[in-house]
Amino acid sequence: MGVLDIMQTKQAIRRNFPLFGRLRYLFESIRPEIQQYFVESDTTGRPFSRMFRSVIYQRSKKVLDTTPFGTQLNVYDNNYEWLSHSITAIDYFKINEHPRVTVGGPQCTQPYSSSVFNISAMSYGSLSKNAVMALNEGARIGSFYHNTGEGGLTDYHLAGGGDVVWQIGTGYFGCRHADGNFNPDAFAEKAKHPQVKMIEIKLSQGAKPGHGGILPAIKVTPEVARIRLVEVGKEVDSPPFHRKFSTPLGLLDFVKQLRDLSDGKPIGFKLCIGHRSEFIAICKAMVETDIYPDFITVDGGEGGTGAAPLEFSNSVGMPLRDALAFVYDCLTGFNLKRHIKIIAAGKIATGFDLVKNFALGADICNSARGMMMALGCIQALQCHANTCPTGVATQAPHLVKGLVVAEKRVRVANFHHETVKSAGELMGAAGIKHPDDIHRVYIHRRVSPNKVETYLDSFPYIPAGSLFERPYPKSFELLMKISRPDSFQPDFSGVDFVEYSWAKKPMTG
Ligand SMILES: Cc1cc2nc3c(=O)[nH]c(=O)nc-3n(C[C@H](O)[C@H](O)[C@H](O)COP(=O)(O)O)c2cc1C
Ligand code: SF4
Repeated sequence: MGVLDIMQTKQAIRRNFPLFGRLRYLFESIRPEIQQYFVESDTTGRPFSRMFRSVIYQRSKKVLDTTPFGTQLNVYDNNYEWLSHSITAIDYFKINEHPRVTVGGPQCTQPYSSSVFNISAMSYGSLSKNAVMALNEGARIGSFYHNTGEGGLTDYHLAGGGDVVWQIGTGYFGCRHADGNFNPDAFAEKAKHPQVKMIEIKLSQGAKPGHGGILPAIKVTPEVARIRLVEVGKEVDSPPFHRKFSTPLGLLDFVKQLRDLSDGKPIGFKLCIGHRSEFIAICKAMVETDIYPDFITVDGGEGGTGAAPLEFSNSVGMPLRDALAFVYDCLTGFNLKRHIKIIAAGKIATGFDLVKNFALGADICNSARGMMMALGCIQALQCHANTCPTGVATQAPHLVKGLVVAEKRVRVANFHHETVKSAGELMGAAGIKHPDDIHRVYIHRRVSPNKVETYLDSFPYIPAGSLFERPYPKSFELLMKISRPDSFQPDFSGVDFVEYSWAKKPMTG
């Protein structure tokens, strides 16, 4: 082995330190585990700290989920957030069942009663078949929905009998012609399946907005390739844009087409906010056409993925808090909120996460990585390598078999139940009777050592209907000027940027 090390030319450390040099690669390969087991504290692991992972595991196993001795968070750190409770706290579940939200605007004929907490989009291919089946069965047990992800609707999504949201990405997997274009007939046939409760057009996701889905070559098994109509063993790169439309008006036409083809099921779209003017352009197109999506899913830039380029995960896309407040404000500004439910995703895994997103404007929340942890994911961070040790995000049969569906489906259902229960208890502590009654003023955030703001201070509401007529709220002036319903592109022609530079909250599109 030493001679081999000296002879090889690829790794300098092995050439210079034969045999011992190998240790570097060994330790490098087990670094995440060493980090987790020996180095990280309860509050430091990333993306989910040990404290939050532990509570997910405890809730999914329904074991003790209380903590001793007080918070481990530093309540004087910037960004520390808390809920204001009430002297007249209530027993939330004495008045309410687990809360549900009806999704379906005026153009929908098959509205869906959704749980407030559901499984976010993750495809078969990215996840193993056992993971998909356990998620779907968990969704059935707990009466919540399971989003298929952009990889298409498969038998594994239907096997458990749980409610499904079928996601259509730019690859149109499951409803495409061989040339990659959308196939309305294939769509209509699947969309009418009784388990498909809603359809979601994926415009972008927070972990890689503007990039398009990636399924690494090693995960493209013959079965995945057959389902997606792609080549075995070749990386699947979905296009970064939809072929079916290229303007906001075109997007709404597509919404209408899908609604017609699915016999009136709720249709929505998912996006991570990029150019803010694009979202305003979509709202203007809704006003112009009177076509409304039934829901809009807002994914934060902090969102997860099976595989993404680092720069996209780290540095593209608006984080959830800002995006959610912005989307809610746009919809109220155009008087559209009454037709459209907002779904939020982005590191939502506890009752407090639910409550603070309700406060910002979400009606419903989704979780992807929380649900993966309920399935047993240990945050080993190998989802892209097909070596997931827990059988969650791999297609390797010897690893997939470790994930026992009958066991993990119960954990998924438990995690859902306990998290919604925790949100209910928090709302009760604040004296709130329904998620709709939580407002931005309920959540406080330390923004500097001596300054605390509520979400209302950070994200002031704009008046309902205020985007119909000038003067617009100051922070929307430039956005309103540069957005058009017939183009996603901001139109900067004739814009004097200096004029907008002094505004209190300039928004540069
Ligand atoms: C393994 C994995 C696969 C995903 N696949 C998709 C997908 O196919 N379509 C999509 O819109 N989002 C996908 N996402 C993003 C999630 O649906 C979700 O929006 C994002 O991870 C934020 O939720 P989280 O913070 O709870 O994970 C994926 C996320 C993960 C972790
Ligand atoms: S345990 Fe599996 S699913 Fe979880 S982060 Fe690691 S590789 Fe991904």
